[in-house]
Amino acid sequence: MSQDAKKRRVAEAAFEKVRHLIDSETPIGIGTGSTANCFIDVLAESKIQVLGAVASSEATAERLEHYGIALLDLNATGTLPVYVDGADEADTNLNLIKGGGAALTREKIIAEASAQFVCIADDSKYVDLLGRFPLPVEVIPLARSLVGRALVELGGDPEYRQGIVTDNGNLILDVHGMCINDPKSLELAINQIPGVVTCGLFAKRPADVLLLASDKDILEFS
Ligand code: A5P
Repeated sequence: MSQDAKKRRVAEAAFEKVRHLIDSETPIGIGTGSTANCFIDVLAESKIQVLGAVASSEATAERLEHYGIALLDLNATGTLPVYVDGADEADTNLNLIKGGGAALTREKIIAEASAQFVCIADDSKYVDLLGRFPLPVEVIPLARSLVGRALVELGGDPEYRQGIVTDNGNLILDVHGMCINDPKSLELAINQIPGVVTCGLFAKRPADVLLLASDKDILEFS
């Protein structure tokens, strides 16, 4: 089965899993990337009445608007019952690396604000140890070099993602070669470097449910 077909299948499975939470009075959170896009497509095709969604990026907001799904402000919604989003890597404890699409900060905010975080991916994203995928870090432009040096001190090899400005007006450093034996400690250590907005480790607030599409089935971990 192609990767695209797996993304569509896992998006359908996620929709089935959360549809009891979707109605005309309940806000939901929706993430960024090709798998989250499939979820938006499935949601729109269902024609189910939805109050609206908090979007984790301008790209997701555009796709929601295209389907006529209302955009909601997280400051007005309060806690969201569910957030559905993809990931770049997921480990057996449902810790994640996210930010390949540069939307990590808003993604982390919405995940934190949600009662349930349902992560959806194809099975190529499932790893024993996080870190094969370079770890994205969103950085205030003034602090790019300072943060880069601090990331080297932490054992990484940061690479400036050329030509990318995040939706928040910041830059991305992709950190290669990081040893991520203790994702939560590393997340906290990186987030404490002055100039870091946030890093793409989701370990302090991991996923609650991970749905993975394999060639045959949808695998569920929680
Ligand atoms: C966006 O910033 C990322 O966190 C995405 O969730 C991640 O890159 C997954 O994207 P795909 O679903 O396109 O693989």
